[in-house]
Amino acid sequence: AESGPPCAPRKAVLVGGKGMSWRGQSVTILCHKTCLLHAHRPRAVKPPCDLRMQSEEVEVRPGAPRRERLGLTWGLHGLAGARRSVIGDSQQLLTHYYDDARTMYEVFRRGFSISENGPCLGFRKPKQPYQWLSYKEVAERAEALGSGLLQQGCKPSTKQFIGVFAQNRPEWIISELACYTYSMVVVPLYDTLGPGAIRYIVNTADISTVICDKPEKARILLDHVERKETPGLSSIILMDPFEKELTERGRHCGVRIQTMQEVEDCGRESRHVFWVLPTGSSFKITLCFFSGNPKGAMLTHGNVVADFSGFLKVTESQWSPTCEDVHISYLPLAHMFERMVQSVVYCHGGRIGFFQGDIRLLSDDMKALRPTIFPVVPRLLNRMYDKIFSQADTSLKRWILEFAARRKKAEVRNGIIRNDSLWDKLFFNKIQASLGGCVRMIVTGAAPASPTVLGFLRAALGCQVYEGYGQTECTAGCTFTTPGDWTSGHVGAPLPCNLIRLKDVEELNYFASKGEGEICVKGPNVFKGYLKDEEKTTEALDQEGWLHTGDIGKWLPNGTLKIIDRKKHIFKLAQGEYIAPEKIENIYIRSDPVAQIYVHGDSLQAFLVGIVVPDSEVMPGWAKKRGFDGTYAELCKNKELQQAIMEDMVRLGKESGLHSFEQVKAIYIHSDMFSVQNGLLTPTLKAKRPELRDYFKKQIEELYSSISI
Ligand SMILES: *[C@@H]1O[C@H](CO)[C@@H](O)[C@H](O)[C@H]1NC(C)=O
Ligand SMILES: *[C@@H]1O[C@H](CO)[C@@H](O)[C@H](O)[C@H]1NC(C)=O
Repeated sequence: AESGPPCAPRKAVLVGGKGMSWRGQSVTILCHKTCLLHAHRPRAVKPPCDLRMQSEEVEVRPGAPRRERLGLTWGLHGLAGARRSVIGDSQQLLTHYYDDARTMYEVFRRGFSISENGPCLGFRKPKQPYQWLSYKEVAERAEALGSGLLQQGCKPSTKQFIGVFAQNRPEWIISELACYTYSMVVVPLYDTLGPGAIRYIVNTADISTVICDKPEKARILLDHVERKETPGLSSIILMDPFEKELTERGRHCGVRIQTMQEVEDCGRESRHVFWVLPTGSSFKITLCFFSGNPKGAMLTHGNVVADFSGFLKVTESQWSPTCEDVHISYLPLAHMFERMVQSVVYCHGGRIGFFQGDIRLLSDDMKALRPTIFPVVPRLLNRMYDKIFSQADTSLKRWILEFAARRKKAEVRNGIIRNDSLWDKLFFNKIQASLGGCVRMIVTGAAPASPTVLGFLRAALGCQVYEGYGQTECTAGCTFTTPGDWTSGHVGAPLPCNLIRLKDVEELNYFASKGEGEICVKGPNVFKGYLKDEEKTTEALDQEGWLHTGDIGKWLPNGTLKIIDRKKHIFKLAQGEYIAPEKIENIYIRSDPVAQIYVHGDSLQAFLVGIVVPDSEVMPGWAKKRGFDGTYAELCKNKELQQAIMEDMVRLGKESGLHSFEQVKAIYIHSDMFSVQNGLLTPTLKAKRPELRDYFKKQIEELYSSISI
């Protein structure tokens, strides 16, 4: 036994006590054997439920108590036709996971105590290691900042909105926590909102104080004040140092400009001893505004706690977060997805490391931080996938890579997730090392992920990869991958905190009785309405409290949900056929040379056309196999290749059962990716359809005139 491999449980066994050495020894031997066994026969993840039945219909019990019908409690009676998670309590929707963490303030305090004041927030300067603020330092600064805000006239009330206009960094979290500590409400502002939206938000939420990261952001706000568009704004607090000139400029238009340090110092001098703690989970904590169509979704402590509890419940059999967990923060904090994942980390005393602020340096930051939790958006997964394949530049290398991936995919299908197989040692450990080498969990959301990419990365990264679906109005997620179901092409089952019901969309032939329809969500994670916008609130939330998402879903036989369309993008062609462009795009995107696609049509036209951005890594090789040579730019202009790409798309369309009127009749090849910077994608990387239509107006007209049917 002495010469066996080192084995972690050994120490734990020997600690067992005096006079137990014999038993200790024998257990150690056993333990060594198991270790050896493990090396040969990796363990499968045991799913928390039968994967052939991941959700179930809620029983119909007429005559439910009135309180429940009104949604005052979260019992499940009388909700015919809705489906719920099979994980957790069958009588009640989940509202919280820990009794001592029912508000966001308590969530943070919980982490503070279980981490025993461990490191909390980390940041780094270029090429430097991470520096850490402890839980205690963060709490102290938040209290000081909050007291300073109260000292300067803010009210400890859920009607007090505080703007935060900054990239992700520790001060963002300190500002947020300052608000939670004194019952104020955080309103994130961000660059891509556009000037009209910033004016709307500051005025609608009566924001008098905004906390900014850089002087440029303060200048944007001052521009509004000088144009007398935001008369209520009277105070700007800056995280970064600034010039005297800015203070002067503020003084001229009646805005006080201070550093965050000053406000904290002011708070330290007259600390508010009794905190106005947000005790009730129904208090508002944040407003999330949307770009393009500004409306402020009101979310409460209870919403966020319920949503992340749903996530904890689903994953508890595989994964319990600990103080050792490290999260890399680079997805915008203005979106609830990032804040949700962070709450999970605080709640367990883990730590958050912020990126340097430049997405191009993310890999460098990850190597320095070695995160265990990595939230992503599909766009980033696609980039990783493309990069891995572009590095396999000969056909032999590619063949080996694909072979290795196939072997590991077979393991993943059997529920085995590991990073120590032969294939890992040969290839994949290098890829894992580029993410820091410690990632245990990847969560993707915000847009549909490609099944090919997800399948490959699940194999290559050797960690659990989960996909969620949802929107801000249900805090972030309402469905989630069930651990062990590593198949793709669906968004998982309902979270235990909400029910999901499909509603008929007659004009499109989607009927709930056939398992298809508009996705509606109800539960403690559903928001309270849009601030001061009765009309949009009643559009989104019906009288029984169902949130109408506008997405079209379909139940699969094993109780998972598949997103097939979006209601608001549906249109009619001239001959009266309804077209759901996103469903069609999701099929065409599977064509190898295609990186991005926009399918266009309208009621004046009889057929569809498409704008295609080829994949710069994959397309040249694909073209070469078909006898086309040239650089990416040259290939993009090649008409015959264009035809070949379209044929490949149409072939996939046919295989997937598209009607012929649902297929594009002509495409235009564009060589620049749609991006957030060029205004063609939303910050969550979804296509901005009206913008795409305007941007490609000329090309679309040409496509229509080039074809006569
Ligand atoms: C495998 O993953 C674990 C974390 O889950 C990590 O500690 C370990 O270093 C990884 N092994 C390799 C070879 O990357
Ligand atoms: C669930 O059903 C879908 C569609 O039938 C299938 O693709 C997927 O593999 C199934 N998942 C499991 C774990 O069986």
